Amino acid sequence: MQSPKAAFVRAATAAAAVALAACTLPTAPTEQARPGPGLGKPIAETDLAAWNVDVRGPDGLGLPAGSGSVAAGKTVFDAQCASCHGAAAAGGPVFGPMVGGIGSFKTDKRVLTPGSMYPYAPILFDYVRRAMPMNAPQSMSNDDVYAVSGYILHLNGLVPVDAVMTAATLAAVQMPNRNGFIVDDRPDTKAVRCMSGCVPIAGGR
Ligand code: HEC
Repeated sequence: MQSPKAAFVRAATAAAAVALAACTLPTAPTEQARPGPGLGKPIAETDLAAWNVDVRGPDGLGLPAGSGSVAAGKTVFDAQCASCHGAAAAGGPVFGPMVGGIGSFKTDKRVLTPGSMYPYAPILFDYVRRAMPMNAPQSMSNDDVYAVSGYILHLNGLVPVDAVMTAATLAAVQMPNRNGFIVDDRPDTKAVRCMSGCVPIAGGR
């Protein structure tokens, strides 16, 4: 005689088989359909704008509206930068000179400054806007960043004393080291993403 337990197991197995047959195989859920942990919310473009501050070096794409003169930049610099960088950016208690050194890369006494090193002037704006003054980064208006960038460029002899920096004028500054960087031509720098059937890098590992 069949035990009550065995009968239960048989019945349960049959029920499970019916249930399996009844359901169609689910299709893979799409990214949106997946329930997820329920954290976060979509971000609005306007909220993203404050973080989206990339500036492209060669043409200044992404530079914001605004402007600042060299004269206004001197006022900003004296008030907010000179304590660390020294008067006229000649070097102070916290950082060395940000002026001069142009052409020094051809000697054994390289002097790295924004004037001698940066290949594109928009890099100066981008760096200062993100990081300076070091004790209060991102506290300056875009106009003040344009102005103080213009002042540093002027101290380096790269724009005249009456220059007014804007997105257009900043991107147009010809930096002396523009062509001073060489492209790294080692084979492993040319690697492209590959997930299957990948060809070994020529001359590489
Ligand atoms: C509290 C000190 C301090 C103040 C104030 C300050 N800086 Fe700096 N600054 C630094 C230090 C330290 C560095 C080097 C940071 C590093 O290398 O990571 C630096 C680096 C820089 C550089 C990069 C130099 C290079 O050789 O690439 C620039 C440009 C610059 N500062 C501009 C400014 C401007 C403009 C102001 C004022 C608005 C300012 N700094 C205020 C401390 C300061």
